[in-house]
Amino acid sequence: MIDLRSDTVTKPTKEMLDFMMSAAVGDDVFGEDPTVNELENYTAALFGKEAAIFCTSGTQSNQIGINLHVNPGGEVICHYESHIFKYEGGGIARNSGASIRTIDGDRGRLKASAIEKWINPVNDVHYPLTQLVSIEDTANRGGGAIYKIQDIEEIRGLCDSHHLPLHLDGARLFNALVETNVNYKLYAENFDTLSICLSKGLGAPVGSLLIGSKNHILQARRIRKVFGGGMRQAGFIAAGGLFALKNNIARLRDDHAHAKEIESVMLTLPWIVSVVPVETNIIVALVDGDDTRNRIITKLKDHNILCLPFGPKMIRFVTHLDISPENVDFLLEKLRKIN
Ligand SMILES: Cc1ncc(COP(=O)(O)O)c(C=O)c1O
Repeated sequence: MIDLRSDTVTKPTKEMLDFMMSAAVGDDVFGEDPTVNELENYTAALFGKEAAIFCTSGTQSNQIGINLHVNPGGEVICHYESHIFKYEGGGIARNSGASIRTIDGDRGRLKASAIEKWINPVNDVHYPLTQLVSIEDTANRGGGAIYKIQDIEEIRGLCDSHHLPLHLDGARLFNALVETNVNYKLYAENFDTLSICLSKGLGAPVGSLLIGSKNHILQARRIRKVFGGGMRQAGFIAAGGLFALKNNIARLRDDHAHAKEIESVMLTLPWIVSVVPVETNIIVALVDGDDTRNRIITKLKDHNILCLPFGPKMIRFVTHLDISPENVDFLLEKLRKIN
């Protein structure tokens, strides 16, 4: 199978597995797993933050991050297509009792000017208290769109002037940073908390990290325990993450080159109406209707190629570690033959 549904489908390579199998482990709930500690320290240092905590998933690291910043009755501002709102099972309401102000923005990205309109007046008791702004980089529903650093800095400035924390859902942050070459530490300065995923483009089997100040991460440890995320000999999986961070970041550019190649061929195909301009590893193709969408997905599946229905008339393809140049050639050959 050539599985282009998501970059979450990667399997660990032999080198990664060997590294994982030889990890030193201990009881991480006691803080005694050397490999988890190494991963957390390594990641915090990479982003110039004081601390980090290893979490089971991107959903968990986002939900812990949100829970840190908001109280029941508070409000989170995010894009209406953001993962934290759309795909985390109502977690903000369920875990944190907060309401959500969803707003629009180009390709899943927010602008400070749009956010500003929705920060509620603190002294008017009618309104929920705005307690957090959260953005996603790259934006999945925006077809892997990257934030401009200037836009993030403006959002930070706005948050500062309203004493609001800013959280990043950076499930695919490394895809953004290998393209922009923005310094990791300068980037991270804009956020109170950052969630990054190891199990997407980086190719580790499991895990995410929440990164922030010592105080925030200390509180996050309590929240993670309550959410059932305290793990014991987690070093075996943390090692996969360490391996991924040390070996698999720069190669994300190969995935982006593959995605660009697929985009350029798609733009020549008569049955494709348009392609959301590719910025990273996500390709969203628009066709003329859901029947066409379903027909294409089925035809590709007949050739052992998997892709994802991504909404009305939309098909998503995601390139990743397990997609070789030969796989891309095979896909392009089959795409060209569809009529
Ligand atoms: C943008 C974004 N944030 C968060 C997540 C959640 O990650 P996980 O599947 O590890 O919970 C995903 C998952 O695909 C995602 O795409």
